[in-house]
Amino acid sequence: MADRSDARRTVTGPVAAPRRPAADEWWRHAVVYQIYPRSFADSDGDGIGDLPGITAHLPALADLGVDAIWLSPFYVSPQADAGYDVADYRRVDPLFGTLADFDALLAGAHELGLKVIVDLVPNHSSSAHPWFVDALAAAPGSPQRDRYIFRDGKGPGGSEPPNNWESVFGGSAWTRTAGADGTPGQWYLHLFAPEQPDFNWGSAEVQEEFESVLRFWLDRGVDGFRVDVAHGLAKAPGLPDHHVDPRLGAMGFEPPTAKDARAHLDGAGAEPTPTDGQMGPMWDQNEVHEIYRRWRKVVGEYGHERILVAEAWVQPLSRLANYVRADEMHQAFNFTFLETPWYAPILQDVVTRSLQLNNRVGAPTTWVLSNHDVVRHPSRFGLADAEQPKPQQGIGLGDPQPDAALGSKRGRAATLVMLGLPGSAYLYQGEELGLPEHTTLPDDARQDPTWLRSQHTRRGRDGCRVPIPWVADAPALGFSPTGESWLPQPESFRALARDRQAGDPDSTLALYRDAIALRRHYALGAGTLEWLTHPGGRVVAFRNGDVTVMINMSGHEVPLPPGEVILASLPLKDDGALPADVAVWLV
Ligand code: NOJ
Repeated sequence: MADRSDARRTVTGPVAAPRRPAADEWWRHAVVYQIYPRSFADSDGDGIGDLPGITAHLPALADLGVDAIWLSPFYVSPQADAGYDVADYRRVDPLFGTLADFDALLAGAHELGLKVIVDLVPNHSSSAHPWFVDALAAAPGSPQRDRYIFRDGKGPGGSEPPNNWESVFGGSAWTRTAGADGTPGQWYLHLFAPEQPDFNWGSAEVQEEFESVLRFWLDRGVDGFRVDVAHGLAKAPGLPDHHVDPRLGAMGFEPPTAKDARAHLDGAGAEPTPTDGQMGPMWDQNEVHEIYRRWRKVVGEYGHERILVAEAWVQPLSRLANYVRADEMHQAFNFTFLETPWYAPILQDVVTRSLQLNNRVGAPTTWVLSNHDVVRHPSRFGLADAEQPKPQQGIGLGDPQPDAALGSKRGRAATLVMLGLPGSAYLYQGEELGLPEHTTLPDDARQDPTWLRSQHTRRGRDGCRVPIPWVADAPALGFSPTGESWLPQPESFRALARDRQAGDPDSTLALYRDAIALRRHYALGAGTLEWLTHPGGRVVAFRNGDVTVMINMSGHEVPLPPGEVILASLPLKDDGALPADVAVWLV
């Protein structure tokens, strides 16, 4: 039996004193649930989820207790990148339904008290967008081409790409055009797939068009926008070559590793002095901020309750904080937190810096562990550090496989830390069921362009996009009435189906529901964090208002501090001990 000793306050005191949210600033402390429409619920049986499917299941989300939903793209699209290639920003793709279906979804959500955030994809359109079709047909130097980034090639006959930039999905970021007679012409830039040409954000027409798109959805009643690739819209003047830092991930982002921990511990890991463009000439250029200042004004015309959320893979955190200055976006996803390894000093450091830096600009911090681009967190935490793939690389047959039991245990504990922190939390559909990544998805079923474009060296993101299980004994686990499913579901999803978890107080679903309810009851989202020290070491413990949150990352059991345990990530024995890889909330 472990000794029961007190957690003690550190001398550092509160690291964040966020201003108390005004009644209409729901987003400062909200729990937002990400819906990936094609994998949520399929009402018409074609194997792809749709808007009526979402509407039908909204009560399950209200019951979970979330404040808002964010919908990944459902707009008209050839689906070259699962809808992040938009051909019409104001229409719903028939795959997902109609505009009337969207209006019904919005009304249904609002009736249940759920806010609705939609995805906005401004860095690029689909190559099927009428503007790009016109640009290809138009001459070099024409106004049609000026909406995108066309350049002459280098070398003899312009046969080499204009610079050395690589696409995030692999291969060159440039594709050469050809005239009707096959004569090779200029090149166009696509930071992602060739079917996703980058807009020229220097073009007044592009700027006006997106302000109009914002208004279109605001007029319909949406509560906000998640802004795709928010750090990519402006490129360095002259499009200079990229001197690639091999440590950086695909989107110019270097996640902290356990090795970095040593540096953090001896002080060498302090926040570096941030500079413009340090992630490369295509990412995080200062000019992006002008765009968001204009958008903030547009959104502000609709009141204080509508928000902009940046998807910006930007580091260091002080650069990320620039996106949430008072006259820019309201929130930015905290991917540094998402990629924090299972190592207490780094976790504490990342949380501290996130709160301090956002606090400086008066913005709430967001917390996120999973989304449609990264290996689901229970599977990440089931891998040894040395086996961790880069975030969007995926896991497949032949790769080291996660320890499912360890991952599930750590995943639940990490969730209690996230939901115990002040600020706003983003959940990804299926994490409330404890879904793991599908790590044995047959490679021939893969649809993420990453797999093809990386010449089959990076498996990509299909493993976290598998349709979610609703009913264990129904076709496609209740995802679709016909049993069709655009990606095959693993057998492990059956036991995790929502109906199997519904009445089980020890289920992951119950844990999420309880955590969200207690978080609201104790107003943790609007709270203040104060670090505690714990004699056990390698334990992260903090106080948020009346609640103590503690996670044991030490590898062995440690004593619980005094107080009543109101929530534990796994059932505890009554011996005053906190087992390894378990988190608790106490009052
Ligand atoms: C980020 C989105 O989350 C991802 O799914 C997409 O592939 C890229 N942006 C390109 O739009």
